[in-house]
Amino acid sequence: MVQDIPEIITDPASLERLAVYKVKSLTGARGELVLPCIPSLGDRYIKQIDALLVALGQDFTPQESNSLHEIITQRLQEGFAASPYSRLVFRYDPPNPMQGLTSGLKIQVRAIVPTTEAKYEGWVQNRSGPLFGSYPDAKVMSIAAELSDRTAPILDIGSGPGRNTLPLAKLGHPVDALELAPIFVDQLRTLSDRLPIKVTLGDVLSADTPIRSSYYQMSIAAEVISHFRNLDQVRLLLTRMAESLRPGGILLVSSFIAVQGYEPDTIIRQLSQVAWSFIITPQELFTVTENLPLELVSNEPAFEYERHNLPAEAWPPTKWFTSWATGRDLFPTDRQPPMSLRWLLFRKL
Ligand SMILES: C[S@@+](CC[C@H](N)C(=O)[O-])C[C@H]1O[C@@H](n2cnc3c(N)ncnc32)[C@H](O)[C@@H]1O
Repeated sequence: MVQDIPEIITDPASLERLAVYKVKSLTGARGELVLPCIPSLGDRYIKQIDALLVALGQDFTPQESNSLHEIITQRLQEGFAASPYSRLVFRYDPPNPMQGLTSGLKIQVRAIVPTTEAKYEGWVQNRSGPLFGSYPDAKVMSIAAELSDRTAPILDIGSGPGRNTLPLAKLGHPVDALELAPIFVDQLRTLSDRLPIKVTLGDVLSADTPIRSSYYQMSIAAEVISHFRNLDQVRLLLTRMAESLRPGGILLVSSFIAVQGYEPDTIIRQLSQVAWSFIITPQELFTVTENLPLELVSNEPAFEYERHNLPAEAWPPTKWFTSWATGRDLFPTDRQPPMSLRWLLFRKL
């Protein structure tokens, strides 16, 4: 009986192909790509991930690629809807470490969704020193100094650990502080001892959070609108602040406002939320205040105001303030970004 003897391969190209396959079987790949959940960047992320898979020698069928793309798109949307601080985690591991890349990759796509409260909990654990500065805002203190009555009540929305609440109360003002993050509420309650401060844990945007009506002489929300997600939330905040004030009362907020004529696209609008810098155009500012019993008294750049009016030893308030307030957290550039943080001062009619 004649047996088939396999042909001996000697041609270099075939042998090199086999060698490459062998090397692939000995090559390990394990890693994570972590991307901010920005749905409008979905196509870009998909290209990036496809290129990574090609570089890792993965050859997906069109159906496999499509279902991966769908999962990525869905996770991005879910993550962004739930929190601007969400991250898409694309993880790949070898299913069988003995076979290297020749047995494919085990792929996981998920979104990590931290709340604002959890983000600040992390700040407290991982950062040192006063998180928002050791001095109150110069603008807040200058407006408070103009109040004729030292016992006029003040509302501080999104008080944080009390950078403005505490000095205002030390001037004699009864201050009601409203704060979303339990960690800051605890810190401020500890620091409020013997001061006329009432601290409430709550979301200013929730109907379950009561706010006294026509009671305060001044209502402030410093560095709070930058957390918001849409104009309805801004309108709701301003409506609640206006309702909280006596006629003639002062409403002071800081907010990122785009320069006249600049219309941010969807990518920039979504990124502005991710970068704690929610952007509003001048036209939108006009719309969100329309028909509210408020008169705009001034609208000025917060960075310049604070730089000129804070004591020298208080400047800059934090390591991040300069870049954030000048719009450079959103647009990292030495040139001038088309938005910046502004102090908006209104009087209740
Ligand atoms: C950047 S910090 C500024 C804290 C303080 N106003 C200051 O200027 O030092 C923003 C604060 O607003 C709070 N905040 C954000 N959204 C809020 C909401 N919807 N209701 C109440 N507080 C909120 C955050 O938890 C955080 O403490």
